Amino acid sequence: MAKNSPPSGGPRHVAIIMDGNGRWAQARGRPRLFGHHAGARRVREIVSACPDLGVDYLTIFAFSTENWKRTQTEVSGLMALFRRYIVKEMRDFVKEGVRVRFIGDRTRLDQPLQDLMDEAEAMTRQCTRINLTIALNYGGRDEVARATKRLAQDVANGRLDPESVDEETLPRYLDTCLLPDPDLVIRTSGEARISNFLLWQSAYAEYEFVDTLWPDFTREIFTDVLRSYGARERRFGAVTA
Ligand code: FPP
Repeated sequence: MAKNSPPSGGPRHVAIIMDGNGRWAQARGRPRLFGHHAGARRVREIVSACPDLGVDYLTIFAFSTENWKRTQTEVSGLMALFRRYIVKEMRDFVKEGVRVRFIGDRTRLDQPLQDLMDEAEAMTRQCTRINLTIALNYGGRDEVARATKRLAQDVANGRLDPESVDEETLPRYLDTCLLPDPDLVIRTSGEARISNFLLWQSAYAEYEFVDTLWPDFTREIFTDVLRSYGARERRFGAVTA
C-alpha cells in the first residue's frame, strides 16, 4: 500500500486525547507550556494528514472541565495558546478546507476567546474537506448534564413529549449533534483512561492507547494506528457468521 493511501475500511471519525505534553517538556528540562506549544504544532500536522487518510472528522481534546485545577500559569498559558492558535491558523484552515467547530461549555472561557471561536466557526462554515472539532472546556458528564437540562426545558415548555424520549433524543441536545459518533478514539502517552471524553458518543468506538507522547505523535504513527483499525472487525454487539 502506498505510504499515504487511505487504509481500507479506515475510520471516518477519529477522536484524540492528546496526552503527554507536560512529560515531553519535563524530559527536556522545560516548563509544561513548552510541551503544549509543541503539541499545538503536532495538531497542525495531524489535521493536514486527515484528508489523504480518509478521515472526514477529527475531534481533539484540548482542555477538559477538570483542567482548571492546574496552576494559574498553565491555565492562562493554555488560554493564550488557544487564542493565538485560532488567530494564526484560521486563514490556512480556510485555504485547506478545514471546517472548525468547538464543543464544550464556552461560558467559562474569556470573552476574547469566545469571540475568536465564533469567528473561526463562521469563517470556515463553507469548508468541506475535513471537519475539525476542538473540545474546549469539555467534559462528557458536563455535556450530558447540559443536554439534559435543555431537554427538560423542552418537556416543561411542552415542545417535547416525555413518552417520545428514546436513544435518539438525547444526542440531538449534545454539543456533537451535528457530528457522527467517533469510530476510533486514540489516547497518546500510554495512559489507558478515557477521562470524561465523548462518553455517550463512544459507546461503540474502538480505542487505541499509544505509548508515544503527543508532541512526538507523527503523521506516520497516526497512519499506522489507522491501519491497525482497518484490520479489525467491528460487530456493534452482533455476531458474524
Ligand atoms: C495533556 O497533556 C494536554 C493538554 C491538557 C492540553 C492539550 C493541548 C494541546 C495539545 C495544545 C494545543 C491544542 C490546540 C487545539 C491549539 P498533559 O499536560 O496532561 O501532559 P502530561 O500528562 O504529560 O502532564
